[in-house]
Amino acid sequence: MSGQLQFTNIQFSYPLRPTVSILNGVTFSVGAGQSVALVGQSGCGKSTLFSLLTRFYYCRHGSITLDGVSLVDLNVEWLRGVIGVVQQEPVIFAASVEENLQMGTRGQETVSRKDVISACKMANAHDFICKLPNGYDTLIGEGGVRLSGGQKQRIAIARALVRNPKVLLLDEATSALDTESEHLVQQALEQAATGRTTINIAHRLSTVRKADRIFVFHKGRVVEEGRHEELMEIVGGQYRQLVSAQEMVASQDSKVNLFAEDEENVREMKEEMEDADITCKYTELIVNIPQGYDLLFQQALFSLHHRTIATASNCSLKTV
Ligand SMILES: Nc1ncnc2c1ncn2[C@@H]1O[C@H](COP(=O)(O)OP(=O)(O)OP(=O)(O)O)[C@@H](O)[C@H]1O
Ligand SMILES: [Mg+2]
Repeated sequence: MSGQLQFTNIQFSYPLRPTVSILNGVTFSVGAGQSVALVGQSGCGKSTLFSLLTRFYYCRHGSITLDGVSLVDLNVEWLRGVIGVVQQEPVIFAASVEENLQMGTRGQETVSRKDVISACKMANAHDFICKLPNGYDTLIGEGGVRLSGGQKQRIAIARALVRNPKVLLLDEATSALDTESEHLVQQALEQAATGRTTINIAHRLSTVRKADRIFVFHKGRVVEEGRHEELMEIVGGQYRQLVSAQEMVASQDSKVNLFAEDEENVREMKEEMEDADITCKYTELIVNIPQGYDLLFQQALFSLHHRTIATASNCSLKTV
């Protein structure tokens, strides 16, 4: 098996909301062993694509093939056995480190301690595990030793790797981390990507610069694709806009108007930005950003998951 993936004209809506179309003809391919990234505004259907790939949902229109064979013709258990997934918020079970990794084998044969260790080394987790009171036998998760976000993330990566999956799916694997642990996890992910097909969903675009190919999603379609440098050359391109917005910093006290999609969205946004100085009129929110406070601005634009359109026209922003 080589791990070549082809998505052809995927159209999809969730069974519970059949009238809302999420994917509108997604077509792209990933070569065997390639490491690619999916980027795009929140809610544009990136994670949905992972659910289709792991057959948690069935797509009526269009096709997905693995090494040329349609997913519908493959045994689901086998398919999930060859695909490793790292979720945004990793689940750590109340069990020892080793048992947590054995769960990655999906009840198939257990793997040796040696394989567990080599997966943890690849995931940059071995060193901190060795420092735990009982090493690989230390209880973690509920009631056990508390792990940091980055440590949990690295355990989750090791768990995905222990089966040596041919295809690795990473959904925002570094989004919740600080720069230090992001670096360690990023390094782990780069090591993990060798020898397998990897699809990486990332909000922080600085983490996808080295991808063999970046696919930019917009309104349920792939609108741009290429390497980072190529996409940066497209004047007015989606990718370029996303990158420059992430690099913006407020140079003076400023206001940003955010337009929400609906009332529900307004409520969510206010909750997410509870510390911000926000005024709300209908679906327009005006956020006051103190000077130099790029964090808030980034949060406003990105933790809100791009559900909003920000107009920066009435504020002075500089690009760092
Ligand atoms: N189980 C579900 N049932 C109905 N709608 C859903 C379901 N899961 C997701 N959606 C909707 O599908 C759309 C795409 O969601 P998806 O999670 O794929 O987006 P995303 O691109 O991964 O976003 P983000 O960057 O925020 O993770 C969203 O509008 C979401 O509300
Ligand atoms: Mg998602």
